[in-house]
Amino acid sequence: METIKDNLLKELAKADTWEAVEKIRVAFLGRQGIITNLNKNVDMRAMNTDTRKAWGRNFNTLKTWAEDAVAAAKANAKITVKANVDLTLPPAPSSLGSVHPISLVQIEIEQIFQGMGFTVGSGIHVESEYYNFSALNIPDDHPAREMQDTFWLTNGQVLRTHTSNMQVRMLQNYGAPLKAIFPGRCFRYEAVDASHENTFYQVEGIMVDHNISIANLIAIMRELLSSVFHQNITVRLRPGYFPFVEPGFELDCQCLICKGHGCKTCKNSGWIELLPCGMIHPKVLAEGKINPDEYTGFAFGLGLTRLAMMKYNIPEIRLFNSGEIDFLKQFVPAIA
Ligand code: PHE
Repeated sequence: METIKDNLLKELAKADTWEAVEKIRVAFLGRQGIITNLNKNVDMRAMNTDTRKAWGRNFNTLKTWAEDAVAAAKANAKITVKANVDLTLPPAPSSLGSVHPISLVQIEIEQIFQGMGFTVGSGIHVESEYYNFSALNIPDDHPAREMQDTFWLTNGQVLRTHTSNMQVRMLQNYGAPLKAIFPGRCFRYEAVDASHENTFYQVEGIMVDHNISIANLIAIMRELLSSVFHQNITVRLRPGYFPFVEPGFELDCQCLICKGHGCKTCKNSGWIELLPCGMIHPKVLAEGKINPDEYTGFAFGLGLTRLAMMKYNIPEIRLFNSGEIDFLKQFVPAIA
């Protein structure tokens, strides 16, 4: 037993890692260990009572001592391992999430407009027929209602089909002059494919004051797009029909992928349809309790989802709501 003790101490003195100590424990105290076998190999029946008692005592003392010695060595070994940690290494990657690409673009746009003195509002999703359609000069039987496939609720309300539902609400609440944007989620009864979703995001904006003209509209839109894309971009205005603006436009930007030469993204036209807009219809101003003889204004409805697709080169709209971690973690939180 004394020899075994000496050997165990010598072995433990050499072991400097937890794993090495564990190996020694197995060699001495494991099921086939030296100490364990000691008891197995002795013939208790050949011993007289006193010898047997003495043997049992000594054996248990040895075993307990050995277990304590191994435990102490393990405790020390652990400290050794910790002391080996290189504190100069950079931190391990964080498991925190990233900002969703739509949120990234939305926050960026909010900052751009706040810099130009615009108020940022929000919006409601469950809306009355009045604010979503009628107040925007889209009467009950008007075919323009069919331009937007609508989710109707059983109580006659709708899931808003566009952020324009907030136009008249904002005018009624704040009056003129008013510069405001109001981003948010919209819903349409769409067959989902690579570029259509039933849930998507827009940023609506209005500017109402004395003498607001199309020149103001174009200047603000150009400023918006250059800031988002961090480069000067070429835009063009085409006539577009929306009952709540007059005149109404589709604002296209020259395709950033092919610089206007024509490619798959712009369907070879060289232009990307990005921003429906126009001068607010006098009837809409009147619904908002603004005198159209005194004030004019413009409104726009930017497709936030489409903008994020352009900006980050995302070819598939379904990725946004997919919850796919590999997709989402590419977007580093870039906002302080
Ligand atoms: N609300 C319109 C749509 O979603 C876009 C729009 C907004 C057009 C503001 C003109 C002015 O299609």
